[in-house]
Amino acid sequence: MRENWGRVVAFTGAGISAEAGIPTFRGENGLWRRYRPEELATPQAFRRDPRRVWSWYRWRMSLIAGAEPTRAHRILAEWERKGLLLGVVTQNVDGLHQRAGSRRVIELHGSIWRVRCTKCGSRFDLGFGNVPEEELPRCALCGGLLRPDVVWFGEQVSTDSFLEAQELFSRAEVVLSIGTSGAVMPASMLPIDAVERGKILVEVNPEETNLSSLAAVRLRGPSGRILGELASLVEEDSSWR
Ligand code: APR
Repeated sequence: MRENWGRVVAFTGAGISAEAGIPTFRGENGLWRRYRPEELATPQAFRRDPRRVWSWYRWRMSLIAGAEPTRAHRILAEWERKGLLLGVVTQNVDGLHQRAGSRRVIELHGSIWRVRCTKCGSRFDLGFGNVPEEELPRCALCGGLLRPDVVWFGEQVSTDSFLEAQELFSRAEVVLSIGTSGAVMPASMLPIDAVERGKILVEVNPEETNLSSLAAVRLRGPSGRILGELASLVEEDSSWR
């Protein structure tokens, strides 16, 4: 990996935020074990009962607003600053990578801190931690109903985001997959395609995932501890300086 420093892209999922107290989706305490995604994270659900969907998102936003970036978020930001990491392609919508100082962050599934008008299509950045007070937030420009600007089940990942992610992956030699089950497409196509192109996949996860069989290296454990250990190795390895 030594000769590949600086050609590493991080691919992250909900697990990297788990140590910040933010529930994952599919673990034993996962959100999809307690809630039905088709009732909360689809365009149909929002059309059917926008108040219920907004209530759930405002709960998630409040949870995230009280969270701090984890050690793993901070180490990735540090590696980017040192020129060791090309950037982060994340499935997360929590904004903790940016909060930790990462600058090159591609949010494949949008951001919980951005809203979009269902009538005029305008987008508004709320800013990290700014949870809407209204039960049904309205567009300041046209009065239309606002929705979270995230990718729901049955919706497409934005082409621009996906192309940006592909470009970052194309420059990488190593993909560091952290805290994702690899259960969701098209996001998971990125590491799968990278391995097909002969790139090295390193997985950081306490458990087996859909991507484990493709990983050249499987680092089993929580991302905070594992990235801390990797950071120590990087510090000792003066060749990258
Ligand atoms: N450190 C690293 N990984 C962890 C930790 C931790 N401390 N705790 C849990 N994990 C791992 C779990 O083992 C699991 O493999 O994080 C992964 C979380 O998987 P999911 O809950 O499926 O989350 P994710 O892969 O991000 O889901 C992808 O699915 O529902 C959609 O849009 C949603 O972006 C999400 C997408």
